[in-house]
Amino acid sequence: MRLVLLGPPGAGKGTQAEKLSVYLGVPRISTGDILRHNVAQDTELGKKAKGYMDSGQLVPDDLVIAMTEPRLKEPDTKKGFILDGFPRTIAQAEALSKLMKLDAAVNLFLEPEDLIKRNTGRRVCPKDDAVYHVFTNPPKKPGICDRCGTALIIRADDKEEVVRKRIDTYDRQTAPLIKYYRDRGLLREVYASGLIEEIFLRTIEVLKA
Ligand code: AP5
Repeated sequence: MRLVLLGPPGAGKGTQAEKLSVYLGVPRISTGDILRHNVAQDTELGKKAKGYMDSGQLVPDDLVIAMTEPRLKEPDTKKGFILDGFPRTIAQAEALSKLMKLDAAVNLFLEPEDLIKRNTGRRVCPKDDAVYHVFTNPPKKPGICDRCGTALIIRADDKEEVVRKRIDTYDRQTAPLIKYYRDRGLLREVYASGLIEEIFLRTIEVLKA
């Protein structure tokens, strides 16, 4: 199964991608996580990407495509993958289409006011990228990752003013991909409000259709 997850910041792409990865037995590839690790390790790519990420803009296509293409050729992707956060522009979608055929693009959609609450309450594990929410998806021990015991952090781009900018960037640059994939018969729509488990079941259903 070669799957792309679309949806605005905070729609739940990472949360659902984790569950789908276990269910389908294919890796989750999150360009946001790869970029954040590069920023944390102060690599050349991280230095170039940081300013864009902290201000809610997209990292330039050439950098992201050059980073993602080799990852999609690694052996663990033979049975498929779940792409979380890529493609985000038509140029990225075109680059991906030259590499391989997809099975589906799932669009997680949600009311804009819910997106702000989801992003500003998010806590993440800097070690294993697990995602929590202070109210809707809290860890068992406040501030500590259930899986590895690391102290959770707030993402630099989860300040409300940056979240608003990220939503704006999504509307202008990424939302056109909904039509792009609809035109190619690959789009599956999933309403992303409700319990995490309910949304997971909805996603499985649309993938069977
Ligand atoms: P990225 O990390 O991809 O961020 P994003 O697309 O803005 O998505 P988020 O990670 O914010 O949200 P999500 O939809 O994964 O939601 P989550 O599951 O965490 O990208 C970050 C930056 O990197 C970009 O701004 C850009 O600069 C750069 N970048 C990355 N890829 C790029 C690319 N291809 N091209 C160019 N630049 C790129 O859930 C959110 C919160 O809600 C969590 O707290 C979660 O616990 C909670 N939650 C989830 N589901 C539910 C539910 N059903 N009910 C209640 N709470 C829920």
